[in-house]
Amino acid sequence: MYNLFKAFLFLFDPEVIHRLTILFLKFIPLNKAFIPKELNTKIFGMNFSSPIGLAAGFDKNAEVYSKMFNLGFGFIEVGTVTPKPQEGNPRPRIHRIKKEKAIINSLGFNSIGFEKVKVNLLNKKTEGIIGVNIGANKDSKIFIDDYISGIKFFSNHVSYITINISSPNTPGLRELHIEKNLKDLLEKIKNLKTNNEVAEVPLLIKISPDVNDDDLSIMCDIFLEFNVDGIIISNTTIERPFKGFGTNLNGGLSGELLYQISTNQLKKVYEYTKGQIPLIGVGGISSAKDAYNKIRNGASLVQLYTGIVYHGPGLIKKMNSEISTLLKNDGFDSISDAVGVDAEIKNGT
Ligand SMILES: Cc1cc2nc3c(=O)[nH]c(=O)nc-3n(C[C@H](O)[C@H](O)[C@H](O)COP(=O)(O)O)c2cc1C
Repeated sequence: MYNLFKAFLFLFDPEVIHRLTILFLKFIPLNKAFIPKELNTKIFGMNFSSPIGLAAGFDKNAEVYSKMFNLGFGFIEVGTVTPKPQEGNPRPRIHRIKKEKAIINSLGFNSIGFEKVKVNLLNKKTEGIIGVNIGANKDSKIFIDDYISGIKFFSNHVSYITINISSPNTPGLRELHIEKNLKDLLEKIKNLKTNNEVAEVPLLIKISPDVNDDDLSIMCDIFLEFNVDGIIISNTTIERPFKGFGTNLNGGLSGELLYQISTNQLKKVYEYTKGQIPLIGVGGISSAKDAYNKIRNGASLVQLYTGIVYHGPGLIKKMNSEISTLLKNDGFDSISDAVGVDAEIKNGT
């Protein structure tokens, strides 16, 4: 059914279809999908009804998050939101690479800004777990200051905050992965907490998949040193692991081609951090097996975006039911029993 509809939708510009989808979701009633109770999992002191979350980028402006829960998501991440409103890069800036079930986007943090997103969050009260993903304005002089103001601005209004240092579409942003810059960012965040300038809310860092092993290991040591609450692995890649249409497009690649890259990185982060920091695995998930494999490689929770574009909104309900079966088949009672079983943690920890 969705395949037929998709053939029609794919005739039009992806960004136009996305906008129409958001408008449609605002107005149609949606029944709540059933979630098996064994998928309930407790992370960051919160109860997630399902380990599957909606990744950042779909509901950038916090317009439809309460509806998205009805599809079976256990949590929704809105954003990326920038302090001041900004347009983002010129269009076209979202491309479907259909053959590879992938997307390349170069949106560049198009955002209505902190103030308006806060209004949208306050307007639609929901019981569900909502994270806000914060970024920096393109013309910002000091990116770190934008993150600090975002944490202060949203800490009273959401369940968690993601510090997105990994978009490939804001020049210079990924430099926050460099040891000195990352320490600087985390030091300033630590000071916010020590001085009680923000409400107690888990602060997560979303990282790039385009980091070599040596740098990743250094970053993980820093995450442990600063007691980062959680890590999201990963954002889109600037690699082009395919041939033909799309290889010359600017932007970040998401979808199935990102799956192995991001899952390998997830496993390494789990091992380097010795399983001491909760991880959210994201990148190329399009089935229950994909999600479950990320969990076995160290993810306590997972997220997806591109999978819904190619497989439709019914995917989440189906995945919830199939993950429950996969758990039972392996003799696990809960998600947490399966976290990291395929990773190797040394030093006896
Ligand atoms: C159109 C589009 C827009 C995105 N925008 C954001 C964003 O604003 N902030 C962010 O952290 N990630 C953004 N992402 C990245 C996703 O959150 C996710 O990390 C990435 O797409 C990999 O997951 P997937 O393969 O399931 O899509 C975007 C992805 C897509 C496809």
